[in-house]
Amino acid sequence: MSHGLLLLLMSVIYGSTLRPELTGPSMAFLKSTVKFECKLSDSPSPVTFELIKGNDELLATKNGPITFPLKVRNGSEGEYFCRVTARNHTSTSNPVHLQVVIPVLGASLVPEPSPPVIYEGAGFNLSCKTKMGSHLKYSWYHNKQEVTSPSPLHHFVGNMLTVDRAVERHAGTYLCEAQNKMENNSRVSSSMPVTVVVKKYLSAPRLSFTLFHDGSGYYANISCRLSYGSPPVMFQLLLNGKRVDLQQVDLLEAWFSQPVTVGLDMGTVQCIAKNDIQQLFSNSVDLEVVPVMGTAHVQVEYLHKADSVVAAALLQCMITMGTFPIYSWSFNGSTVPLEANSPTFIQHNQVLVLTHLSPGNLGYYSCRVRDSFNSNSSWVESEKVLVKMTDFDMTRIEVVAVVFCCFLFVMMVGGACCLFWSINSEPVMTDNRHHVHCHECINTENHHSMPETLSHIEEMETVIMEVEV
Ligand SMILES: *[C@@H]1O[C@H](CO)[C@@H](O)[C@H](O)[C@H]1NC(C)=O
Ligand SMILES: *[C@@H]1O[C@H](CO)[C@@H](O)[C@H](O)[C@H]1NC(C)=O
Ligand SMILES: *[C@@H]1O[C@H](CO)[C@@H](O)[C@H](O)[C@H]1NC(C)=O
Ligand SMILES: *[C@@H]1O[C@H](CO)[C@@H](O)[C@H](O)[C@H]1NC(C)=O
Ligand SMILES: *[C@@H]1O[C@H](CO)[C@@H](O)[C@H](O)[C@H]1NC(C)=O
Ligand SMILES: *[C@@H]1O[C@H](CO)[C@@H](O)[C@H](O)[C@H]1NC(C)=O
Ligand SMILES: *[C@@H]1O[C@H](CO)[C@@H](O)[C@H](O)[C@H]1NC(C)=O
Repeated sequence: MSHGLLLLLMSVIYGSTLRPELTGPSMAFLKSTVKFECKLSDSPSPVTFELIKGNDELLATKNGPITFPLKVRNGSEGEYFCRVTARNHTSTSNPVHLQVVIPVLGASLVPEPSPPVIYEGAGFNLSCKTKMGSHLKYSWYHNKQEVTSPSPLHHFVGNMLTVDRAVERHAGTYLCEAQNKMENNSRVSSSMPVTVVVKKYLSAPRLSFTLFHDGSGYYANISCRLSYGSPPVMFQLLLNGKRVDLQQVDLLEAWFSQPVTVGLDMGTVQCIAKNDIQQLFSNSVDLEVVPVMGTAHVQVEYLHKADSVVAAALLQCMITMGTFPIYSWSFNGSTVPLEANSPTFIQHNQVLVLTHLSPGNLGYYSCRVRDSFNSNSSWVESEKVLVKMTDFDMTRIEVVAVVFCCFLFVMMVGGACCLFWSINSEPVMTDNRHHVHCHECINTENHHSMPETLSHIEEMETVIMEVEV
């Protein structure tokens, strides 16, 4: 009789009572001590209990339920079960599979590239490495916030967090936590934080200059400025293509000073902004300060509302030449205070805007100009111009509007006629649908003026025929 059949028989005789139950952990830390218990709910005596590992490694045997403390070693991993024997009949318990877990120790973050300093658009990887540990899971923190999966910014597989195309938001501190995947008394090891720097590419620099007097002479204060980019930036100043100065700054702007003789062209200046991967040239500027000379005059422009009423006036002071002019406005002979603005006017360099034309600001305006860098220079003065409430030509606007409407009407009628004529002159309609469709077009567009249009068409046809002949 086979062993299996015998067991089946036993089960029938004893009911379920002969199937022993083995309890024990499915995971245990190396070097810990765990407990296996084997029992029968109702044991007929005499019964022999055996705790077995794997195929046939007998760990314990006893004439009664077994409680077995197991000191977990490297080789303890495997399947455990227990066997009971009563009156020559044997029954086997459920198996318990034990996994040996090595406690986690010494987590650290290894960036790639290292150090983790990259430009926007490049990728980076962070690996969470441990000195020891098995059955691990990983948690990630970016700027102290846990990164949850799936994350719109990062993706992670195994012990690695990956960013394919970094943007500024990816910058910051990262740390990882490695944890043993145990239900109870799981262990965690945290890495030290790693700071990821995401640098911006530099924009092309913009060069401009102002003038100052240091007591002995004039100097240009030359600004080389970037609208974006990540410092540090190396700025170089070129004068006539030759490098004359160099600055490494933690800003997006550098200033250079160069001696200048007013009225003389000192050459062309240009600057270069550089970092470890980029080198960008600015616009070139003539380092020439032309004093204010020649004449000045005021240009007036009236601004109208939709109903063509004059609403505002724009006054501009135009000068023949001058690199750094300063402007001053007069109204009816008295100077408008510099930098002064009011509800009715706005002053900005050579522009004076009269925002509401009213009797209070109608009158004579003039402007004067001198070099801003030299308070001793003489003013160049413009003529006076009269700003008045012109009744802006309503009639002219109306005429323009009427002319425009007539023109539009003629165009529409002409267009319709052309279309109609071209359809009518098509010899034989091969496509019936096409014919109907076009007829509808004409109808909808022109259905009142049909008879009139037709006569026009005839005229037009003759005209066109004449031209063609
Ligand atoms: C444990 O056993 C595995 C192979 O089964 C071996 O690679 C490892 O080095 C062992 N560890 C220790 C601490 O003995
Ligand atoms: C148990 O089995 C052994 C040998 O397999 C046999 O000698 C013995 O008589 C059996 N005892 C009972 C009670 O069946
Ligand atoms: C990140 O890791 C992946 C896979 O190992 C690799 O293909 C990629 O080149 C790495 N990226 C960087 C920036 O090192
Ligand atoms: C985990 O711990 C709780 C309470 O300490 C205990 O009831 C439970 O049986 C344990 N689970 C395992 C799988 O050890
Ligand atoms: C140049 O101009 C900047 C900005 O106004 C100023 O901060 C800087 O001190 C000036 N440099 C010199 C040399 O005057
Ligand atoms: C400015 O002068 C004009 C012309 O002399 C005069 O009509 C107007 O009232 C004056 N405006 C003011 C505010 O004094
Ligand atoms: C302006 O004139 C005064 C006196 O004549 C002189 O001391 C001063 O240096 C002059 N300033 C400039 C900017 O030329």
